[in-house]
Amino acid sequence: GTTAEGTESMETETETEESVVPSKVVIGSDIPYRPFEYETAAGELTGFDVDIAKAVFEGELGVEYEFKPTSFDSIIPSLNNGNFRIIMSAMTINDERAEKVDFSDPYFTAYQTVLVRKDSSISGKEDLKGKVVGVQKGTTGAGAAEGLKEEFGGDLELKQYDQINGAFQALMNGQVEAVINDNTVNAEFADQQDGVVFLEGEGAAAEEGENAPPYLTLTVENYGIAFRQDDDEFREQVNEALAAIRESGEYDEIYSEYFSG
Ligand code: ARG
Repeated sequence: GTTAEGTESMETETETEESVVPSKVVIGSDIPYRPFEYETAAGELTGFDVDIAKAVFEGELGVEYEFKPTSFDSIIPSLNNGNFRIIMSAMTINDERAEKVDFSDPYFTAYQTVLVRKDSSISGKEDLKGKVVGVQKGTTGAGAAEGLKEEFGGDLELKQYDQINGAFQALMNGQVEAVINDNTVNAEFADQQDGVVFLEGEGAAAEEGENAPPYLTLTVENYGIAFRQDDDEFREQVNEALAAIRESGEYDEIYSEYFSG
């Protein structure tokens, strides 16, 4: 009827006159995941993702942004329910997720890696057989651990934590013997904690060639910003902004603030 048609044409008008970029971009993220999103001692939100968001949204698109803490395990349904506009949460692009969200161009490369205590008897991947491994629920680290379990004919126990710090804590107090998680986040924890080290060995990164880190890598992954599947126009603008900060050198500046290598 007339009412429905009227509403439709109004919506069309709004879309052509106004940008799809909101005046404030609300970003879902599981915090803390240091060095990507975490609070300083003074309580200020910081991290690689936070600085990239600032450069992309404030710098390139001229809009405000705000991070909204969200459990990682439910972050995709939460995006699709409209709780925030996008996800920036050191999130790995993969096929399973791409069925439910659309990703930006990749903005960071990561590897699944294994942390153990220094006094551990585990000295190679095979030693993980029969052990208890800690992971964050819903992550690709949990997926990598499931893969190992299969490789070991089921002889691996997974303990899943809502946040990565739960898994790190469990490693320190002996509830798990290893943690499988993204390399730079593991590296940050190992830097702060004397008692933990990367499990050594070659692996996925070495197979793919250049820049392989000097420890065992179970996967090679790329992070992307996640969008709802009806948000193409905004996603394209964010991709252009990401390209612009790479071009300008701002991406490299942010990168070197958090990563030395
Ligand atoms: N890269 C991993 C994944 O996508 C872990 C991400 C966890 N992120 C976070 N902010 N807690 O599954």
